Amino acid sequence: MNIILLGPPGAGKGTQARKLVEERGMTQLSTGDMLREARTSGTEMGQRVAEVMDRGELVTDEIVIGLIEEKLAGEAGGGFIFDGFPRTLAQADALGALLDKLGQSLDAVIEMRVDDAALVARIAGRATCGGCGEVYNDTLRPIPADGKCGNCGASDFKRRADDNEESLKQRLMEYYKKTSPLIGYYHAKGTLRPVDGMGAMDAVASEIAAALD
Ligand code: AP5
Ligand code: ZN
Repeated sequence: MNIILLGPPGAGKGTQARKLVEERGMTQLSTGDMLREARTSGTEMGQRVAEVMDRGELVTDEIVIGLIEEKLAGEAGGGFIFDGFPRTLAQADALGALLDKLGQSLDAVIEMRVDDAALVARIAGRATCGGCGEVYNDTLRPIPADGKCGNCGASDFKRRADDNEESLKQRLMEYYKKTSPLIGYYHAKGTLRPVDGMGAMDAVASEIAAALD
């Protein structure tokens, strides 16, 4: 089964993708994570990507489609979870064509609905484990009191350069302008499954499971 997690910044796409990997053995493909990796490469492309991301703008379709194409060539245990991709209509068309070429289909597009005010609160307090990528939040899901990741025991946590008020405003604008048209696009294809993303993490996970089964 191949699925897309679609939703604004901070909706919980990464959090829910990790649960699906754990519970269903699926393979998470996060273009955000791939681009953050590229920016540490020290290449000129990485430098350009870093500047665009920090402003909260979208990286070019060409770059992200290239990254996804590379990953699709690899093995997908229990299917792919596209996390943060596609983000434009051109990316959606490209994904459809790539899956067709591989003889694969897109089974569901989970649209995670979360109010803007909640997104701001979630992003403001986010911290990600440097060891395993587990996502925490200062108020909503605090790092354990001993300062160690509850999952892997590491004690270094990363804050993202684009998790500030100004970049977040830009990320939201990009979402509403360029990504939200995908809701109609997938609705028309019959694959859209809207989910209430405002609940607690486990409640959202149950809704997603119900939408997939
Ligand atoms: P990306 O990394 O994809 O970021 P994003 O879409 O802004 O999404 P986030 O990672 O911020 O949020 P999330 O939905 O994963 O939420 P999370 O689970 O962490 O993209 C970053 C940048 O890369 C883009 O701006 C762009 O520049 C570039 N880019 C990436 N893909 C691209 C593409 N396809 N095309 C062009 N450019 C691209 O949760 C957030 C917080 O909330 C956490 O603290 C978490 O603990 C908490 N939380 C989660 N769920 C809940 C819940 N149910 N209740 C309470 N708290 C919760
Ligand atoms: Zn960890």
